[in-house]
Amino acid sequence: MRSVIFVCLGNICRSPLAEGIAQDLNKKYDLGLLIDSAGTGSWHIGESPCENSQIIAKQKGIDISTLRARQVKKEDFSNFDLVIGLDSKNVADLKAMGCTNVKILGYFGYDGADVPDPYFFPGFEGFEKVYEQIEVCVKNLLDLK
Ligand code: 4NP
Repeated sequence: MRSVIFVCLGNICRSPLAEGIAQDLNKKYDLGLLIDSAGTGSWHIGESPCENSQIIAKQKGIDISTLRARQVKKEDFSNFDLVIGLDSKNVADLKAMGCTNVKILGYFGYDGADVPDPYFFPGFEGFEKVYEQIEVCVKNLLDLK
């Protein structure tokens, strides 16, 4: 696996965290991977990651402030070896677009579970849980257990 793209709904909360964590590991361990993220939806194109995702990442020493949301496109399915959906709806939407090289992130450590959408969470605590879940799975995916 030389390249991976993480896909959620808005590309502002969950997949930027997955991209940031993976980029950090890519740099630390000199993995030479191509890493990106995108959303299935178009609402937030061009936006920075949501504030709580930026805060939790910063607390962990990862700067995701320069990432900008974009919508996933069919070329991504051939440009990346692996397409990772953050929840089962993302995976279903990607498959409906014709993507075959797709897996759910939870396959790599949380029994196939969805990474819950923290966009609608009232507080910050949800982001801490989501961060931990994404970190465990991304480490396993990159084989850095
Ligand atoms: P994400 O969170 O998919 O983790 O980026 C969301 C962001 C925005 C919306 C939904 C989920 N939205 O409906 O606008």
